[in-house]
Amino acid sequence: MNLKNITVLGSGIMGHGIAQVSATAGYNVVLRDIEQGFLDKAMEKIKWSLDKLVTKEKISQQEANAIYSRIKPVVNLAEAVKDAHLVIEVVPEIMELKKKVYAELDSVAGKNVIFASNTSTLPITEIANTLSRPEKFIGIHFFNPPQLMKLVEIIPGEKTSKDVIDLTQEYVKSVKKESVLCRKDVPGFIINRLFIPMVHEACYMMDRTGATMTEIDSAVKFKLGFPMGIFELADFTGMDVIHKATTEMHSRDKKVILPHPTIEKMFDAKKLGQKSGEGFYKYSDEKYERVPLSEELASKCDPIQIVANILNNASWLVTNKASDIEEIEKAAQLGLGLKKPLFQTAKEIGIKNIVNELNQLASKHGKFYEPDSLLVSMQ
Ligand SMILES: NC(=O)c1ccc[n+]([C@@H]2O[C@H](COP(=O)([O-])OP(=O)(O)OC[C@H]3O[C@@H](n4cnc5c(N)ncnc54)[C@H](O)[C@@H]3O)[C@@H](O)[C@H]2O)c1
Repeated sequence: MNLKNITVLGSGIMGHGIAQVSATAGYNVVLRDIEQGFLDKAMEKIKWSLDKLVTKEKISQQEANAIYSRIKPVVNLAEAVKDAHLVIEVVPEIMELKKKVYAELDSVAGKNVIFASNTSTLPITEIANTLSRPEKFIGIHFFNPPQLMKLVEIIPGEKTSKDVIDLTQEYVKSVKKESVLCRKDVPGFIINRLFIPMVHEACYMMDRTGATMTEIDSAVKFKLGFPMGIFELADFTGMDVIHKATTEMHSRDKKVILPHPTIEKMFDAKKLGQKSGEGFYKYSDEKYERVPLSEELASKCDPIQIVANILNNASWLVTNKASDIEEIEKAAQLGLGLKKPLFQTAKEIGIKNIVNELNQLASKHGKFYEPDSLLVSMQ
């Protein structure tokens, strides 16, 4: 199939960005939402973003105009998908809503149309099985904001055809992003499998070792090559997003996350992070604000518990054939911004020490911490 026409369903935080990057790559884009007002707001945001690129001299005014004119906002679903080759669904992360949207879509879209969902955590195969064409359904997980984040995870369901996987990979490449293939539809895919459990683990680390938030954040930043601290990253991501991902991942597999009560409490108290002015840290205004982290604070904290957690999950992904070390390193670098490969950090610390740490944690806190067989074999 010659992919030219893309319909994006949902014009919110992610949808308008995906529409913009697709139009920038030359696709004809239809942006669909349930109300004209939502589409007007999305088109304003796209215009603002393109204007900024013109001001920064990244693109010319003429290019910005051409990109903008390639995006057509449409409310009527049948009209929105009538010429589509690929539909990217970016509606809220609610399974019942997604199923309803796909039922409507299945009845109005041509038989050859490919459906790709930007879901962060919902099971791809379960959505696919509600369709008359499960082989034409795939997960395409962009990160926020799609205009800037380089990584896209591609997640085939059990029945997704090879052609659809190939075409999705080509599309991601054409919009100048890097894809990683999550070969199995596992809870959290690759990035959330590494990131979400780590936020909970950092909370446990505070309880168990007495290390402060800024000490833990400084240690991961200065000793492990993270772009920012874990609590800082959690505040940046938003407790609503973390809470939702936690609930979905944990409901699919109890062994993925050991939920720490703090996350639920913060979510209930609407301490959502930067967007609400308070999360793990407090923020004085809406401006992007960095927490003061330092090498001195880092020197007071040994982050081995965090390394053990993330490495155990990375190994689990390899052992369960969802990914391999090379792809995981690529995902961690582009999706989490890690400056140092995870398995290099592990070797520097000593895989034996990491396995020891996990065994000790398992003997004190239960089976959740048992080391993955790959890590054990790498000692
Ligand atoms: N926000 C993030 O950081 C992020 C990152 C990666 C993936 N995601 C995923 O992307 C998806 C969308 O998230 P978001 O943050 O953009 O949500 P959002 O709430 O900002 O936007 C969703 C949009 O979908 C619209 N919508 C609802 N029903 C619709 C329908 N039937 N047809 C068309 N549009 C409809 C809503 O009106 C809204 O404008 C979710 O699956 C989410 O998990 C979000």
